[in-house]
Amino acid sequence: MEKPKFKTVQEVIAAGEGLPERYLHAPTKDSESQPLNGLVPEMDIPAIDLSLLFSSSEDGREELSKLHSALSTWGVVQVMNHGITEEFLDKIYKLTKQFFALPAEEKQKCARETGNIQGYGNDMILSDNQVLDWIDRLFLTTYPQDKRQLQFWPQVPVGFSETLHEYTMKQRIVTEKFFKAMARSLELEENCFLDMYGENAIMNSRFNFFPPCPRPDKVIGIKPHADGSAITLLLPDKDVEGLQFLKDGKWYKAPIVPDTILINLGDQMEIMSNGIYKSPVHRVVTNREKERISVATFCVPGPDKEIQPANGLVSEARPRLYKTITKYAELHYKYYQQGRRTIEAALI
Ligand code: OGA
Ligand code: NI
Repeated sequence: MEKPKFKTVQEVIAAGEGLPERYLHAPTKDSESQPLNGLVPEMDIPAIDLSLLFSSSEDGREELSKLHSALSTWGVVQVMNHGITEEFLDKIYKLTKQFFALPAEEKQKCARETGNIQGYGNDMILSDNQVLDWIDRLFLTTYPQDKRQLQFWPQVPVGFSETLHEYTMKQRIVTEKFFKAMARSLELEENCFLDMYGENAIMNSRFNFFPPCPRPDKVIGIKPHADGSAITLLLPDKDVEGLQFLKDGKWYKAPIVPDTILINLGDQMEIMSNGIYKSPVHRVVTNREKERISVATFCVPGPDKEIQPANGLVSEARPRLYKTITKYAELHYKYYQQGRRTIEAALI
């Protein structure tokens, strides 16, 4: 299979030929008043105790209402007591760091092939005038197991594949609980979202690496986008900031809270909740000094599933906002690289 000829960001840096034009965003009115690396306030999202969400105690009800409030305003929460130990999460961070620190030839063994999203590589290039994101990534489908393309799974660092498999199984438990909790928080039957999400839902893990960048004012790590998933489980870097969310036209940075998993909703959950819960627009900014890593797992409804607003959330007072959609992910990749919001295509 043909391997694409584009350089990764690490290879661009190693070539020592300066910063290619292709990464530079043209100045706009906005960027003059607010450079990409300008100071932004921190968002006030709560840390939610996942285990408490299923308690019928007063505390449990309070936790559910915290969840409801955060998902309807921000579409993001930080989840604690998720059942995955700190040691295990540290192992994921460490293996990710080790993978990106490997020599280029070693990483190239996992390189993406033309027309395939899985594997190691740079930002996907879909058009000639696309401004590139300052990011290298390893993208692997982890679930269902028969969708895995193991030729892209790293042999080194040792233990990567086993740990990723284990992480996937642990994440399945977290996602199931989270879907049930969201249904409870909207006073719906507990399995309402889980049934739409489906038994054969897909999980894609993306290991992201953002090298230090010489022009953080003009170059972006991940351009503004909303995720095409139902939900995304994110392990943001534990030390280096960069992730920001948009609310009412303003950017806010995500706080770093140790030992939590950040869960943001994707468009398909916004559709299922009939717009009550938000799929937030977010981006990653770069910095001059430090490399940053993150691991995002996109939880995507099975390709055979019809996604639509839950019946219990449609009424005369709150009419249905979205069409029934299938295979949203395919549409999403096209819109994403054009900097457009896919969810507009689903609006009634
Ligand atoms: C993504 C994403 C955020 C991060 O991969 O879609 O938004 O912190 N990542 O890397
Ligand atoms: Ni994202």
